[in-house]
Amino acid sequence: MEIIILKNAESVAATGGELVAELLRVRPDAVLGLATGSTQLSLYRRLVKQHLESGLSFKHATSFNLDEYLGVAADNPQSYRSYMNREFFDHIDINKNNTFLPACEDGKNPILVGPRYEQAILDAGGIDLQIMGLGANGHIGFNEPSSSLSSRTRVKTLTKQTLKDNSRLFSEDEFQPTLAITMGIATIMDAGRILLLATGENKAAAVSKMVEGPLSAMCPASILQLHERVTVLLDEPAAAGLRNKDYYNWTYLQNESLKDRFGIIHDG
Ligand code: F6R
Repeated sequence: MEIIILKNAESVAATGGELVAELLRVRPDAVLGLATGSTQLSLYRRLVKQHLESGLSFKHATSFNLDEYLGVAADNPQSYRSYMNREFFDHIDINKNNTFLPACEDGKNPILVGPRYEQAILDAGGIDLQIMGLGANGHIGFNEPSSSLSSRTRVKTLTKQTLKDNSRLFSEDEFQPTLAITMGIATIMDAGRILLLATGENKAAAVSKMVEGPLSAMCPASILQLHERVTVLLDEPAAAGLRNKDYYNWTYLQNESLKDRFGIIHDG
């Protein structure tokens, strides 16, 4: 895994934004995997800024979000569809018909959503770059600890910790969903490249387990050790528990010089 430790959350968003822009410049019709959550907010702000100020275009891009709550209508401000429109899609030139979330319309069978979502991803040619965050419990998407490492898009029950972590976003009298439909771990692993952003000290333990811990369903993010092309962007507090921090910093410097000399590279 390529581990890049940056001085603060803003630098994480800026570097993430550059990577996305780089991809869109080379492949304007890229298929992007997207995430919601607090960590992604500054990345979306950066990308909107690049769109408005530097003409970065999403016109030909397609997107698939990792997850969506079950039992929350698309027009509910708490839905991930609303989040994506509000924080990102409404401010760029993406064609909203090409933006997808694993949503289940009211009255429809949620069991059917997963296989259709998988098919839609395949029909689009697969995800080029999957952007994501990390749960404090090591989840990716809503693949909670003990999720099958070969899972596909399906309904998941959120853990009490995830509900507690996200309760800050719901007012006391508001319905907080306990179920979601999420891309599976195998779905995520099919992406051509993965960009994971984690910031803040409450992510430090999960970051250590993901990068340096054993491969285990109890830390779903540890599966990323098996992916060929993962870039992890961390701020200092999120990187605080890493044992090999010096090596990652050293590797980053080496990579920068390789990039200057040969225009490459990724150190996985
Ligand atoms: C959201 C998602 C989650 C979040 C994770 C981190 O679409 O898939 O895995 O990325 O829970 O959330 P924040 O950034 O709010 O800490």
